[in-house]
Amino acid sequence: MIVNNFLNLNEIAPKNLEAILEDASKIKKATLGDTVLNESYSSCLNNTITGLLFEKLSTRTRLSFEAAVLKLGGQVSNIRKDEIHLGQGETLQDTSAMFSLFLDVLVLRLYEEEKLYEFASNSKIPIINGLTNESHPCQVLTDIFTFQEIRGSIIGKKVVWLGVANNVFQSFLHAAVALKFQIVFSGPLKFQPSERMLEFLQKQNSDCLTIEPNPVVAVENADLVVTDKWVSMHDNQLSKSDLDDLASFRVTKELLSCARMDVLFMHCLPADKGQEVSHDIFEDKRCVALQEAENRMHVQKSILRWCLGLF
Ligand code: CP
Ligand code: NVA
Repeated sequence: MIVNNFLNLNEIAPKNLEAILEDASKIKKATLGDTVLNESYSSCLNNTITGLLFEKLSTRTRLSFEAAVLKLGGQVSNIRKDEIHLGQGETLQDTSAMFSLFLDVLVLRLYEEEKLYEFASNSKIPIINGLTNESHPCQVLTDIFTFQEIRGSIIGKKVVWLGVANNVFQSFLHAAVALKFQIVFSGPLKFQPSERMLEFLQKQNSDCLTIEPNPVVAVENADLVVTDKWVSMHDNQLSKSDLDDLASFRVTKELLSCARMDVLFMHCLPADKGQEVSHDIFEDKRCVALQEAENRMHVQKSILRWCLGLF
């Protein structure tokens, strides 16, 4: 049995990431038009069960995975953390071994990335990372898909991340190395890329990251501007002075106007409107957050198919 884990974008060969993106594009087109092709996709997960176990809240990841599985003919098992023995009388290793007996693939949203890897190392079925404190690879691969769907190849493009160098940002860094685009971080000193992120780039011998403290300078010539909540689910609330420091990195229509004319704006959602983004940004035609959210389902169909060795 093929077990392809989807844990982090820096561990998956670029040719496989490209294959997933290509498959997602075919699947999306088939879903929207070609009935013959659509029929072949709509049964490809027949007789499989995908487990979904989330330690943190989720709207999009849970729903889009559930929809992806059901539309490919598979079944879903929603596992509630407070109804299983994990962490309360059963070790993670034993729980992981049990899941392997009954499920075919498992989507996990955990706090600690270490636990995700521990789960995977004890698993005989593929594990998909549905977000940790450190990463969000399904989201970022979807963002790349969305960019390429609208603008073509992302190779050599300028992506600007504003605000806090968080888990989604780290997956963007992984993607920048693998898929060869430039990334500029702009945010207060306190929220800059961690040592671990910088070490990763050093090891890869990559010069894809630039740090630019001035947001107006950062977005000049940007092809894509991205931000995320300043406070992630695992973070503590920000102090008044942190909020003041972050204010100039808020994405506004005015700031976007300093980028390329055809710039796109992405936000993985949920958003804290009025903080990292102005309220009116979601009505702006440069904002593709809804398309980004919808594409989660299409890309995750292909992630599931790749994990199960279907291409
Ligand atoms: N973007 C994203 O992963 O959203 P959820 O937290 O709602 O899954
Ligand atoms: N950075 C956010 C992303 C939510 C999808 C968080 O971790 O809460």
